Amino acid sequence: MTTMPDSWSESDSELYQDIAAVAVPARAEQMAALLTLLPFKPDETFRVVELGCGEGLLAQTLLACFAGAELVALDGSAVMRERAAERLTTFGPRVRIEPFDLASTAWLPHLQGADGVISSLCLHHLNAEEKQALFGAIQERLSPWGVFLIADLIEPQRPEARTLFAATWDRITKAQSLAQTGSTASFERFIQTEWNHYRFPDPVDQPSPLFDQLTWLKAAGFAVVDCFWLKAGHAIYGGYKSRSGSTGTLSFTVALQAAQIQNSTKPYNKPAGNRKS
Ligand SMILES: C[S@@+](CC[C@H](N)C(=O)[O-])C[C@H]1O[C@@H](n2cnc3c(N)ncnc32)[C@H](O)[C@@H]1O
Repeated sequence: MTTMPDSWSESDSELYQDIAAVAVPARAEQMAALLTLLPFKPDETFRVVELGCGEGLLAQTLLACFAGAELVALDGSAVMRERAAERLTTFGPRVRIEPFDLASTAWLPHLQGADGVISSLCLHHLNAEEKQALFGAIQERLSPWGVFLIADLIEPQRPEARTLFAATWDRITKAQSLAQTGSTASFERFIQTEWNHYRFPDPVDQPSPLFDQLTWLKAAGFAVVDCFWLKAGHAIYGGYKSRSGSTGTLSFTVALQAAQIQNSTKPYNKPAGNRKS
């Protein structure tokens, strides 16, 4: 079993795949929000780079919704890349899956001239300085109409907010466990594996405050920066290089339907893992 430097292990990859449908708040809605925010028409030609693609659910939904899109999907986990390759094989040359180490700069050439950079639940593995450097590197390399969209944990700035994030994450996970499986077993696994960062902080997880990240995005040169969605400490935020918006982009309803279909396909039989053991 391999381990990425100082952070995510392959047993984390296995466990995450097992619990993500229940443990990620409103996962399909988050995916749909990310795709709805892309400033491209469904038939337009554009190129996106995904940082930390995991098993490829967001990539699959993006490629299904945008017939002219090409995507480079990067992930440090061989297990995740293998799952993503199985899931995305149907898209042929429209998708490339490559290894990367988020904290290095060796992969930055993938970003050159890209129209979009997206990332879900990955960038909190960087510290504050590394995030700032990455935001600048992305802004410099994106095309003039480019967009950088992040879905990630954010760091609360007050203990009251931490308490709220912790409680609302537990609550939504329990509700999703019951709704998806008719049982609380998945929720109990979420508790037992200490997945709730706001109750069980882990040094490999280094979310930064949302306000700081919006400030860094602005300082990096993005014309429009904002937070677009937030639930239980999980936020969707980012920056657009251009101030002018696009019309005829993907509808949220279509994106949500596509995301729900991809989320309901669980073709793999994965062994149980325990992140904290
Ligand atoms: C929580 S998972 C999220 C996966 C997917 N984006 C999603 O939202 O379902 C984090 C992903 O980031 C990858 N990752 C974490 N740290 C990394 C690093 N330092 N370098 C490269 N990939 C990393 C992991 O392999 C994993 O696939």
